[in-house]
Amino acid sequence: MAGTTDAATEVDVRALRKTFGTGADANEVLRGIDLSVAAGQVVCVIGPSGSGKSTLLRCVNLLEEPTSGQVFVGGTEVTDPDVDIDAVRRRIGMVFQHFNLFPHLTVTGNLTLPQRRVLGRGRARAAAVAAENLARVGLADKADAYPAQLSGGQQQRVAIARALAMGPEVMLFDEPTSALDPELVGDVLAVMRSLADDGMTMIVVTHEMGFAREVADRVVFMDGGRIVEEGTPHDVLTTPREERTRAFLARVAAPVPAPPVPDGDGR
Ligand SMILES: Nc1ncnc2c1ncn2[C@@H]1O[C@H](COP(=O)(O)OP(=O)(O)OP(=O)(O)O)[C@@H](O)[C@H]1O
Ligand SMILES: [Mg+2]
Repeated sequence: MAGTTDAATEVDVRALRKTFGTGADANEVLRGIDLSVAAGQVVCVIGPSGSGKSTLLRCVNLLEEPTSGQVFVGGTEVTDPDVDIDAVRRRIGMVFQHFNLFPHLTVTGNLTLPQRRVLGRGRARAAAVAAENLARVGLADKADAYPAQLSGGQQQRVAIARALAMGPEVMLFDEPTSALDPELVGDVLAVMRSLADDGMTMIVVTHEMGFAREVADRVVFMDGGRIVEEGTPHDVLTTPREERTRAFLARVAAPVPAPPVPDGDGR
């Protein structure tokens, strides 16, 4: 039936295309993406730089306007020109590589401001929801800290709590750990894993193959604006069918070493 989706499908992307620029400068970045994510599923999206992973996520909550195709979230067509996009966005939490916390607000202030501005919650209710979600990410004791007093990993967990405090149905993560020092990655992944265990629907763009292997219900490999293959983590990461997937995984597993430091500079 046109215009609706199965109730169990939380995110449904159909024949999605996105072109940046026009004429000779046109760059088709998404070339017909079909992706369906059931409620409670975790889908990890992997692929080389420039393959369109971020653009795909950004089209799901209309931070980018698709050139053609349809996107449904919770059965509502996001790409319908008459949709209340603010209402749709409230159902979608987004976490980026850079956490963008307000430096002049405490952790609690960062969590209550959007609840009050966007959802119209009162101060006490917003503070209670903030406390609940800080506990969920293991940062109940940082409620009164300022972002600059936190590690990068803690700041990212605050950003996750901020998104959760809005009560989203689906969470989109765009390389949430790639700006972090390696020793801080684990705590953020642990929070994401617990969200998955709680049944949150999640689309996660990540280079963390261990996370994808352990947490994802499905892994999607993108290249050149297309889904090259998708399947269980075992299918895609262990027994990939496509040569492009194999080549990508080989590069991720054995990154190109940094050029050697020239001799004689005292280091
Ligand atoms: N706002 C924009 N205007 C023009 N081109 C854009 C815009 N955003 C992205 N692109 C182009 O779209 C292509 C895909 O970008 P995208 O950021 O989706 O890739 P990605 O898979 O997320 O890459 P990375 O792993 O480096 O984050 C790139 O060629 C990029 O230059
Ligand atoms: Mg990206």
